[in-house]
Amino acid sequence: MTSQDVRKQFLDFFASKGHLIVPSAPIVLKDDPTLMFNNSGMAQFKEYFLGNATPKSNRIADTQKCLRVSGKHNDLEDVGFDTYHHTMFEMLGNWSFGDYFKKEAINWAWELLTEVYKIPKENLYVSVFEGNKEENVPFDQEAWDIWKELIDEDRIILGNKKDNFWEMGDQGPCGPCSEIHVDLRSEEEKLQVSGKSLVNNDHPQVVEIWNNVFMEFNRKADGSLEKLPAKHVDTGMGFERLCMALQGKTSNYDTDVFTPLIERVEQITGLKYTSNEVLNISEEQNKTNIAIRVVVDHVRAVAFAIADGQLPSNTGAGYVIRRILRRAIRYGFTFLNTKEPFINQLVPVLANQMGEFFPEIKLQQQLVTNVIREEEASFLRTLDQGLQLLENVVAETKGKTVSGTKAFELYDTFGFPIDLTALILREKGFELDEAGFNAAMQEQKNRSRAASEVSTEDWSVLIPGNVETFVGYDQTESDVKITRIRKVDSKKDGILYQIVVDNTPFYPEGGGQVGDKGTLVSANETIEIIDTKKENNLILHFAKKLPENVNAGFVAKVNQDLRSLSSRNHSATHLMHQALRSILGTHVEQKGSLVNPNYLRFDFSHFAKMTESELQQVEDFVNARIQEQLPLIERRNIPFAQAVEEGAMALFGEKYGDEVRAIKFGESMELCGGIHVKNTAEIWHFKIVSEGAVAAGIRRIEAITSDAVKAHYASYENTLNEVKIALKNPQDILKAVHSMQEENAKLAKQIEALVKDKVKNLKESLISEIQEINGIRFLAKQVDLNPEGAKDLAYELGNLGNNVFLVLATADEEKPMLTCYISKELVADKNLNAGQVVRELGKFIQGGGGGQPFFATAGGKNVAGIQEALEKAIEYIK
Ligand code: ALA
Repeated sequence: MTSQDVRKQFLDFFASKGHLIVPSAPIVLKDDPTLMFNNSGMAQFKEYFLGNATPKSNRIADTQKCLRVSGKHNDLEDVGFDTYHHTMFEMLGNWSFGDYFKKEAINWAWELLTEVYKIPKENLYVSVFEGNKEENVPFDQEAWDIWKELIDEDRIILGNKKDNFWEMGDQGPCGPCSEIHVDLRSEEEKLQVSGKSLVNNDHPQVVEIWNNVFMEFNRKADGSLEKLPAKHVDTGMGFERLCMALQGKTSNYDTDVFTPLIERVEQITGLKYTSNEVLNISEEQNKTNIAIRVVVDHVRAVAFAIADGQLPSNTGAGYVIRRILRRAIRYGFTFLNTKEPFINQLVPVLANQMGEFFPEIKLQQQLVTNVIREEEASFLRTLDQGLQLLENVVAETKGKTVSGTKAFELYDTFGFPIDLTALILREKGFELDEAGFNAAMQEQKNRSRAASEVSTEDWSVLIPGNVETFVGYDQTESDVKITRIRKVDSKKDGILYQIVVDNTPFYPEGGGQVGDKGTLVSANETIEIIDTKKENNLILHFAKKLPENVNAGFVAKVNQDLRSLSSRNHSATHLMHQALRSILGTHVEQKGSLVNPNYLRFDFSHFAKMTESELQQVEDFVNARIQEQLPLIERRNIPFAQAVEEGAMALFGEKYGDEVRAIKFGESMELCGGIHVKNTAEIWHFKIVSEGAVAAGIRRIEAITSDAVKAHYASYENTLNEVKIALKNPQDILKAVHSMQEENAKLAKQIEALVKDKVKNLKESLISEIQEINGIRFLAKQVDLNPEGAKDLAYELGNLGNNVFLVLATADEEKPMLTCYISKELVADKNLNAGQVVRELGKFIQGGGGGQPFFATAGGKNVAGIQEALEKAIEYIK
């Protein structure tokens, strides 16, 4: 059975049990501050369990792309070493939202595994929650009784809170669970050791395949449990492990989910992977196997994250993706001997294999390949640099132990992996001071933990069960009641209150557009709202203080000026998107966007730097649409399929509901939840201020509209006027500037000739001042020259012989500068180095510099230090 069949049969089975089949949510989460990535099938349904939103069907099934690389569920460091953990994996799941419960869930799980997939019953074990006194949750008798009808009681295992009480994070929905484990060992092994004793014991062939969670509780911020409004089922089956069981394999990597990728790595590297069936492999081969598993696992995580819109970067989710990719590059570099980018070459294989079910990977294959290739190239350069730096560190090391702090510097500033450092050191016969490294690492962790500490209190609910509505498309003011309040204390922002109201006009940050600001006004007080954000389905209004009377009636008033500026930038963004696609081509797709009152920023896929003419065309295109005074045509609540059929642009990595909102200005039509102008004329004018690269194949444009354009031109005009005044009001400014430039060039030539003369004269007079110390002809002196003159003089004097050592100081335009010249013969014989000399002496003039061993310069700030520097130079030579 191919993996494609396995997936299909799961979905078909649950469709036949009345489940709605939905697509996987994007791997990167946008509206949930507690979670960076989708780490389980249920993450996208969290609000249904909490009662904050209503699902479109109370039975749903899907396969979800999951990533367990940060937070509570993190498998990253295990991946590669074992054969059944992954960074990205697919989780097959079925859900009941307040509908069926344990009986159906368990019976269907059993039916699917044993009758459809035909896994022999004697290979299966199940677990049931034993109960927990402190949590006040009893033994799950109900689940036990249901299982007892299906399976011998001695195949049912009691599990503790760690194994059989599932929680998505530190807070949120949770409940007891019942797991299904499969024993894939040979008959012989089964006779020797019972499978039951190996359940939950990290045995690679006795693994959990399916978890059925019975969601009944919500874990609150204070750690206590509260009952959810209804009982739900949340299940998750590891797709890759199921494939292993059904394809008769003992490693996930031996299934057709991974073998095509592995074969491609073998082709590229010329190395061989050994399947799990092969016994007694060498240590060398084991390392190769681990590295190949790391690479083929990680490329999936990284490729899907990029396809869902998350580019590698230096912060947040982007940084996690970068780290995963770097882990793969490093394993390749060290164990597969890959010194050139190669992981990107796996993307076409992946697209081919998974593109049918996950079209995003096929459609963006080229972009994903480019981004990965560029990241690889850049990290390989870092590794190269790091290797050189490591050479220096080793050269400076006295004894055989390399300082942990130095290794940490390499790791922290250059991203040079510590295990690679340790490995190279071992090869060179050195040791790493691991304790020192760990201490430096811990110190940094403490610093960043302290900086990111956030404590979030539980909601205090003023009006229960109230579902919030957003009225901000039609109004900027509305009468509201506060429904819930929460206090958040963070190192970054201090104490802030999050306020939820019943029908808000405030737009929460989303789709690139910043959240509204404004006020909540009651008869007696006014509360400033400094920002608005979405958390799952709640709209949070941020305030520095709470009203004295939270139960009063308020008028929620959006700051209209700011909103109106943002809306102009947002509508201009749509027009620019249209312009880019029409001028550069339809390969252009939005890859990131920021819209605020001041400007707009737009990232998009395009392979080359835009030319001046292309930028001009884009500006002209947008300004033409503004002049056409196109009215906004807003379509709310139209079916997704219909909108797309009518030509609306949908974005990868965005989660759309069945019903969407479409924004249309003339021929531009996008699915969008943002705030827009009523007519393009409101944008007044559009001006691009910069264009550049963000990543391989991704460009960024920053632009301004309306008031900002006026300010932009006004400031230009101002500068121009000042220039005119400075030039004494010439008729033609440009002509005046040109003639000034010409004159300047003439003067520069004259100065050059004069300096040359001066150098000649100085040379004559200085020859007599040269002293001979220890067989070295030496001079340290301040001269009245500019830096170029000093350099010429040094070379002139240097010509006097092969034992010259000069330190010349200048203070041209009050800028102290030291120039050191050492004859090449001296450099070689006496191991002297001009670079080192200027670095040492540079300290006296508060500066630094460098150069080559025979010639170097250092600039500084302190003219008064020149004398001391020269004295030290004489001391040095003596
Ligand atoms: N949410 C459960 C899990 O991830 C099914 O294991």
